[in-house]
Amino acid sequence: MGERLTPAVLLGSNRTKPCVRQVYGISGQGKTVMLCESIRKAARSKDFGPKHRFVIFDVKHDGYETLAPPVSDVGLGIRKMDKDRVVVIHPEMDNAFAELDDLIEYLFEVARYDSEFSATLLIEESSTFISGASIPASIKRFATQGRSLGLSLLLVNQRALNSRWTDTQSASITCFRLAIPDKKLLLDRWGLLADEMDLKLSEKKFSFSHYDLEGLDLSYYDPIEIPKTRTPIVKKKKRTDFLKLPFER
Ligand SMILES: Nc1ncnc2c1ncn2[C@@H]1O[C@H](COP(=O)(O)OP(=O)(O)OP(=O)(O)O)[C@@H](O)[C@H]1O
Ligand SMILES: [Mg+2]
Repeated sequence: MGERLTPAVLLGSNRTKPCVRQVYGISGQGKTVMLCESIRKAARSKDFGPKHRFVIFDVKHDGYETLAPPVSDVGLGIRKMDKDRVVVIHPEMDNAFAELDDLIEYLFEVARYDSEFSATLLIEESSTFISGASIPASIKRFATQGRSLGLSLLLVNQRALNSRWTDTQSASITCFRLAIPDKKLLLDRWGLLADEMDLKLSEKKFSFSHYDLEGLDLSYYDPIEIPKTRTPIVKKKKRTDFLKLPFER
């Protein structure tokens, strides 16, 4: 049996394992809900040191707002990171590549400067940046050098990332219901009986599985329970200015 998937296993840095964890599943199967609630738990857990940061880079602008009020660019995100344990960035599509480069550069700088610092970077819709043929140098650097600095990278996508290079840097794949071509891909690449797995996942909506790529163990998980109150990790600041801005209600 492989190790049980806890927020620390899914999100924490582990200096003995590859830095990347992949999360796949077709739309609406509960990826974001599971990740969002795992981060909420992790942010309150002692498994993560006081200088650990969870940074969500989300070009979809969808589903992590209950953790922290999102900011629109990396510059603002970096300022928040000084104090806030969770930072949600909603970049614009047209400069998302450059923003991601800046963010990774910053995480490396801090990790080099302060050995107590560690971080989890979650990239939503990661096929925006990664394809079989091309991977930005910043992501390559993160995946290869990150783990010795206490950094971990979650690549979240609706489809399996068709990148062998990424696979070599990955510790695990967390799967929700899969697109049909991806079942074949996982079988060919990892010997994972993905048809069987998907059938089992279809029995319980929002359930998921975790495939450890080192031990090649597969384990199944019940759907995450969404808390009645999704208490933010970073509270929204009250407005103190008394003039309203134009267009604001
Ligand atoms: N564990 C769960 N329990 C109850 N409802 C859930 C659960 N997971 C997801 N849902 C419901 O399904 C909706 C879609 O889930 P979610 O946004 O996590 O999907 P997703 O896999 O991230 O999809 P996409 O790829 O489109 O981003 C949620 O808004 C929520 O209403
Ligand atoms: Mg989602």
